Amino acid sequence: MDQRLKDYLVILIGCGQMGRALAEGLIDSAAIEPARLVCLDAAEKKAQALADDLNAREDIPEVELDESGQPFRRLRLYIVAVKPGDVRAVLESRSDSFTDEDTIVSVAAGVPISVIRRAAGPFPGVARAMPNTPALIGAGVTGVMGDGTIDMEAVNAVFEAVGRVVRIRHEAHFHAVTALSGSGPAYIFTAIEAMADGGVLMGLDRATAIELASGAIEGAARLVQAQDFVHTAELKDRVASPGGTTIAALAALEQHGFRHALIRAVEAAAVRSKQMTEDFESS
Ligand SMILES: NC(=O)c1ccc[n+]([C@@H]2O[C@H](COP(=O)([O-])OP(=O)(O)OC[C@H]3O[C@@H](n4cnc5c(N)ncnc54)[C@H](OP(=O)(O)O)[C@@H]3O)[C@@H](O)[C@H]2O)c1
Repeated sequence: MDQRLKDYLVILIGCGQMGRALAEGLIDSAAIEPARLVCLDAAEKKAQALADDLNAREDIPEVELDESGQPFRRLRLYIVAVKPGDVRAVLESRSDSFTDEDTIVSVAAGVPISVIRRAAGPFPGVARAMPNTPALIGAGVTGVMGDGTIDMEAVNAVFEAVGRVVRIRHEAHFHAVTALSGSGPAYIFTAIEAMADGGVLMGLDRATAIELASGAIEGAARLVQAQDFVHTAELKDRVASPGGTTIAALAALEQHGFRHALIRAVEAAAVRSKQMTEDFESS
C-alpha cells in the first residue's frame, strides 16, 4: 500500500476511459487495497463491471470499523473523471455530503478550480489534474495543482500509480500543460504515422516501419529523461555527423517548418483550452 493513501477511501466518479485507467493503476500498483476503492458511474453497469474487475466496491461505506471494532469515518478522496460538461452537476448533487475531511480531484479538461470549488461547496479540499492517455499503460504524465488546503501527497500518489507527476504552481499554466502533455500524444501518434509512411515509401512493410518509428521515439524520449539535463540540442548534435544522413534529414525538417509547426500546435491547443475555460467561467 502507498503510505500516502493509507488513511483514504478513494471514490472514483466516472468509470470511462480515464477513470478506468486510474482505478486499474491504483489497484495494479497496489497503491490501495481494492476494498478502499469505490467505483461510481451514471451507468451502473459500467461501475459494476469495473468494481467486479478490480474486486473494488460499488458503495460508499458510511462508517468503517477499526481494529478494536470502533466505528470511524475514513478520509475521502474523490476522483472526478466525468466529461467536463458533467462536472458541475456531479459535484452539486453531492455538495451536501462533502466535509472538510474530503478532497476532490477533477481530471476534467478546462474546468478551473474556481468552478469545482463553487460546485462542491466550501468544505472539501479541491485539486485539478491533467493526465494523458499513456496513463492507460502506466506511462502517463499528469500535471497537478491543489487549492492550497489539501494533502497533495495523497493526490500525487493517485497519479503516480499511472505514471509521472509534475506539480503545477499557477493555474493559468494548465493551458500549456493541456497543450503539451494532454494533447501531446496525438502529435506523436501523427509523427509516428508520418515517419512510418516515409519508411514504407523507402520499401519497408508497414508493421516494421511502425515498430522502428515508435521505437526511435520511445528511445529518444527515454534518453532525454535519463540525462542529468543535457540540452536536447546537444543530443541532436551528437547524432548529426558532418555530411551524414541525420543532418540531411534535419535540413529537410527545417525547410518544411517542423519546429515552427510544433510550436504553433502547442500554442493553438493552449489558446483553445483557454477559450474552453472562459466558456465554463461565464456559463
Ligand atoms: N481520456 C483521456 O485521455 C483524458 C485525458 C485527460 C483528461 N481527461 C478527462 O477525463 C474526463 C473523463 O474522460 P473520459 O475520456 O474517461 O470520458 P468517458 O470515457 O466518457 O467517461 C466519463 C464517464 O463518466 C460517466 N458519467 C457521466 N455523468 C456522470 C454522473 N453524473 N455521475 C457519474 N458518472 C457519470 C459517463 O457515463 P456515460 O457514458 O453513461 O455518460 C462515463 O462513463 C474528462 O473530463 C476528460 O477531460 C481524459
